[in-house]
Amino acid sequence: MATTAWADPPPLRARTDRYTRVAIVLHWVIAAAIIYNLTSGLLRDQLPRGFFALHISSGLTILILSVVRVVWKLMHKGLPFLPMAGWERWLARITHFLLYAAMLFVPWTGWVMISANPPAGSAGAAYAQAQSAQAATAAGKPAPVPRKPSLFWGLVEVPKIGPVADLGREPAGVAEQRAFHEQMEETHGTVAIMLLFLLVLHVGGALKHQFVDRQPELARMGIGRGRGGSG
Ligand code: HEM
Ligand code: HEM
Repeated sequence: MATTAWADPPPLRARTDRYTRVAIVLHWVIAAAIIYNLTSGLLRDQLPRGFFALHISSGLTILILSVVRVVWKLMHKGLPFLPMAGWERWLARITHFLLYAAMLFVPWTGWVMISANPPAGSAGAAYAQAQSAQAATAAGKPAPVPRKPSLFWGLVEVPKIGPVADLGREPAGVAEQRAFHEQMEETHGTVAIMLLFLLVLHVGGALKHQFVDRQPELARMGIGRGRGGSG
């Protein structure tokens, strides 16, 4: 049957495309948690002590939700980009890819870091505790109290990554595990700074498309009017 001009659907551009509701909720929950983790990590010494208290729970939640986001993305067709220059499209593609990598890798390094401690009750833990008590006494300080295990949102103990924790199960492995812990601490801080750099680039790009190019960019991620959704 022949279609008449008036019966044609309106051109796509007139209906702003947007991501699925699931993708939008995941995007903003993960973004808020990452901003909290960056702030609590980078300003740990400047902010009140309690501000860091949820860093581990929030970080592990970012890891879990980012895995869900990646699986969801693989199961859905992506959204075509808004009209933009070729180099901008490539920059956006690379930035999104690196953001996904960082959303998984940064919390992973944090988890590896906190796993790199002798398992509670092991000979390695007793040895490490005796060593820190000795060092404290030599410095004229009181012996440190053994650290309580971290709880995930105050509910269950955060599981340790077995092979990493096992490195320090025996006293002979404690020094090697400590060196590894320090290396992971440095890596965690470095990749977190890279994530901050990507975030600045990402937000800068989104705001440029919205306010300089005057494209309905933010509506694609749920801010303003749009229609759902792929991606
Ligand atoms: C740490 C925080 C953030 C992370 C990790 C993040 C990550 C991402 C990722 C990976 C995408 C690509 C989605 C896909 O195509 O699969 C995306 C899209 C988007 N983000 Fe963010 N984002 C963050 C914060 C923000 C903020 C603060 C804004 C507000 C300006 C924003 C606005 C957008 C918009 C508008 C899109 C859609 C891009 C498009 O396809 O046109 N994001 N974000
Ligand atoms: C996207 C998620 C995360 C971000 C953006 C982030 C960011 C940061 C930053 C910027 C620091 C300060 C680093 C420094 O002082 O050099 C830090 C420290 C720390 N993070 Fe994370 N983190 C995340 C996830 C995690 C996770 C999942 C864990 C543990 C399971 C974790 C555990 C820690 C710990 C224990 C410290 C303190 C290290 C120290 O004693 O100096 N983080 N984090």
